[in-house]
Amino acid sequence: MRVLHAAAEIYPWVKTGGLADVVGALPQALVAEGADVRLLLPGFPAVQAALQEAEVVADIGAMFGAARIRLCRGRLQGSGLVAYVVEAPLMYGRSGNPYLGPDGREWSDNLQRFGLLGWVGAHLASGELDPAWQPQVLHAHDWHAATACAYLAAQPATPVRSVYTVHNLAYQGLFDAADFALLGLPARFMGSSGLEFHGQLSCMKAGLVYASRVTTVSPTYAREIAREEFGCGLDGLVRARDADVSGILNGVDGAVWDPRTDSAIAAPFSAEDLSGKARCKAALQQALGLPQDAHAPLFVAVSRLTAQKGLDLVLSALPELLAHGAQLAVQGSGDPALERALLGAAAHYPRRVAVRLAYDEAFAHQMVAGADAMLVPSRFEPCGLTQLYALRYGTVPVVRRVGGLADTVLDLVEGEASTGIVFDDATGAAMADAMTRAVACYRDGAAWRALMLRGMAQDFSWGPPARQYMALYRQLLDAAPV
Ligand code: ADP
Ligand code: GLC
Repeated sequence: MRVLHAAAEIYPWVKTGGLADVVGALPQALVAEGADVRLLLPGFPAVQAALQEAEVVADIGAMFGAARIRLCRGRLQGSGLVAYVVEAPLMYGRSGNPYLGPDGREWSDNLQRFGLLGWVGAHLASGELDPAWQPQVLHAHDWHAATACAYLAAQPATPVRSVYTVHNLAYQGLFDAADFALLGLPARFMGSSGLEFHGQLSCMKAGLVYASRVTTVSPTYAREIAREEFGCGLDGLVRARDADVSGILNGVDGAVWDPRTDSAIAAPFSAEDLSGKARCKAALQQALGLPQDAHAPLFVAVSRLTAQKGLDLVLSALPELLAHGAQLAVQGSGDPALERALLGAAAHYPRRVAVRLAYDEAFAHQMVAGADAMLVPSRFEPCGLTQLYALRYGTVPVVRRVGGLADTVLDLVEGEASTGIVFDDATGAAMADAMTRAVACYRDGAAWRALMLRGMAQDFSWGPPARQYMALYRQLLDAAPV
């Protein structure tokens, strides 16, 4: 089974969120299932630097207004996976966030930058760019790679099938409709049954309309996006493709997230010996400038600060949380108003609330390891990874019953099966109630310990999801053998 995964992000080199974690882990899990998987990535400086034994396989020349475009093939440092990297210095030779300039605004040539990624994906898939290897399935992730599905569909009678995974329907890659001409796709690909979306051009639609199959990252989110409330204006299209849409839950990369071997944390620990976790908590409290009180329940959130993540609910519920003697720490960055509000809370409650407006991978591990509870009160959540990391580290997740959070955390009412605290309404009152229930359970030491241990015993490894993707690829190829 030959599969090409195309994406903009990959841990540990280019990451703005969970997409990078998935692209950094799923291909290897598929290899473990016997697949021949290769990656296609834009040549961002960090990716170029990670490519070993690189050789040029195609000289693409000038496209999308940029010259000197080449396709390199090499092996990724660490995993040794074969990766194709699109070398286009004018488009990708920019460090930092892959989508935004230093001013925090989208790069004005993002359509060309990611159109190129899609074009290369489809032409690699058709065997034109590397005669030595042709995938049977092209698997594109999120809007950044979605045009690959449209370019593939534009090829006459290709045997290659495409899978499009939606990691977040809210980020659609919308551009000026007039720029459709830049993509060089046949005119029939525009219009409301093509890429057009309310007078704009939607890269998301390139995947939703033209992929052979559409997946998203949890079964619940797959059902939710067929409803107006979560459909971001695309629920009609999702319903129309109902038979082709499914949800496959993400996994956890055990090589990166394992409290027994994690080199970023103060002390290793396991379900059998939790003493290291107490040391992690003390170290975290110290690093955050919070009192080193082993008995104060420490709630954390590690998150992009956007409306999606619902951290404003935590702020509404803060007085109640602190009244229970708890501590709160948040690490994240994003929406300036939310950043200011969080800083305001930290200033108002010094030594009770700590806020780090930073993106810091190592410290994220320390927060997951040292906390008692992880807050993920999202308004919507395609899968969510921090609650999965928390479960592995004996940190009890407090989550809203939505998307992948609903699929991965079971509330206290489930008794012997429970792994966390789950609440329904996106309100400060419901959040406060959930945190009150969490603190009450924490104060009952034995119940809390049982909850932690059940969480740590959950298996969210990549094996089962990788097998589901393999089954999906096989179904596609059985329907149309290559
Ligand atoms: P999303 O992809 O919507 O941001 P996920 O929960 O799927 O949400 O993945 C978020 C990923 O980004 C996790 O690996 C999390 O640890 C990481 N992350 C988020 N914010 C930060 C931060 N401020 N510092 C370090 N890592 C972060
Ligand atoms: C997106 C979603 C998140 C998911 C991640 C990886 O960024 O917001 O819920 O876990 O992709 O699939």
